Formats: sequence, structure tokens, C-alpha cells
Amino acid sequence: MDAPKIVIVDDYAAMGRAAADILVATVERAPRAAISVPTGSTPVGMFDEVLARVEAGACDLSRIHLFCLDEYIGVTADDPNSLTGWLARTFLDRSGIPAHHIHPLPSTAPDLAAAASAYEAEIARHGGLELAVLGLGGNGHIAYNEPGSTGDSRTRVLSLTQESIAQAAGYFEGRSVPTEAMTVGIGTLLEARNLVLIVSGAAKADVFARALHGPQTPDLPASFLQNAFVRLTVIADRPAAAHLHQSPHRGIS
Ligand code: PGA
Repeated sequence: MDAPKIVIVDDYAAMGRAAADILVATVERAPRAAISVPTGSTPVGMFDEVLARVEAGACDLSRIHLFCLDEYIGVTADDPNSLTGWLARTFLDRSGIPAHHIHPLPSTAPDLAAAASAYEAEIARHGGLELAVLGLGGNGHIAYNEPGSTGDSRTRVLSLTQESIAQAAGYFEGRSVPTEAMTVGIGTLLEARNLVLIVSGAAKADVFARALHGPQTPDLPASFLQNAFVRLTVIADRPAAAHLHQSPHRGIS
């Protein structure tokens, strides 16, 4: 059976550097690449590392196209709780990626289904995703593909689980949390030519091990990454990797 490339590093900072290495190498190889990056606490180290390289002149993102992975329905990028807005403040605004190369989910479109299809077409128009960097939700989601999502799901609107709503509430600071999001689909993500899953912390160890080693099931959407193992690199710090099986395919750095 195929195995992903597994890179286990000492800590969060090393995870960020290893993920940044892949993103930067992708852009060197394919300067006009279509790339997706996640939101959340996991990718912040990667963003900081990439930004440091951009600021040092060691990385040029000016020709890539950045496709966002998810956004709350009815929330625009200028809303303080927007995932796209968060990504802009955390990474995009200082990345050198031109604004017209940034593709937010059309989460306020009058016809959301048609707009989601158009988003898929836009990815295809840019050659498909060269690289999709993903985080892992505590409930096994990737992007905002919540439990119940199928491996062939496309970009669409879906209801958030109570767990995700509770997690988002921490960011929404007392305001009501949207209950629906638009997410790039699992099937869409699995078509990326390269995938990177970044995972940090002991709290993710169990869900991470089940995603890689357990049965493929909509109950744990990240388990469908097994269908793209040949194109997948997982980068985890030691606490997150604690429950992974030993494997002869496993590369540890
Ligand atoms: P986190 O979120 O990086 O904040 O843990 C991961 C996710 O929900 O995708």
C-alpha cells in the first residue's frame, strides 16, 4: 500500500520551517502555481517563516495564485471574523501576492451553488492546485469539510458541526457564530498535485493516527487523504505523531 511521506520534527517551529521549505520550493519550481493554505493556529509558524523569506528576498510569491480553503457564509473579508480577512492579516497582506491573485470563497454570492462551481472552474483555469497545504481539525475536518463529507465532495456550502461552531466562538468574541461555511471539497483537494498536512500538538495525536491508519470514512474526513498518499507529505511535531504506527516507509527528520 502507498504510504505518505511522513516528516516528524521536534516542535512547532520546526514544523513551520519544514512546511515553508515545501511551499517555497514549489514556487521556485512553478512560479505561477495555484496554491491553497489553511487557516487556524497550525499554519502560523509556516506563514511567519515564508514571510521572513519573502522579506529577505529569498522567495517571490508575486506570480502565484492563492486559493482560500473556506469562509463563513454571509461573511465578507472585511468582517473581523472572516477567515479570508484573518489570512490577509496573518499572511497575505505581507506576502507580495497581488490582490487580484487572491481567490476568496464566494461566500456572499446570491447563488452560492453556482458560485461554488465557478470557484472550481477558476482553480482549473489556473492549472489546478499545484500545492494544497492543509491543517487537521480536532474533529478530523480538512478545510471545512466536516464529518459527513464524502471523499468526492466538491466546493460547496455545508453546515458546521457544534464542535466547530464552539471552536469558532473563541474567535467571534461574543458575536453569533455563523452555522454554515463554504469549503473547497475533499475531491477537489485530492486532485492537487502535491498535498501537505501539518499537525501539531498532543491533542491531535489520536485523530491524526486515525486519519492515516484507520478506515476511510466520512466520520473522519481527513481519512480520505489516504487516496492521495503518493502525493501527500505529512509534517508533524513529536507530540502530534505520538500515536502513529511505526512503518518502514516512515521518514523521520
Ligand atoms: P487549528 O485548526 O490549526 O487551529 O488547530 C485546524 C483546523 O481546524 O483545520
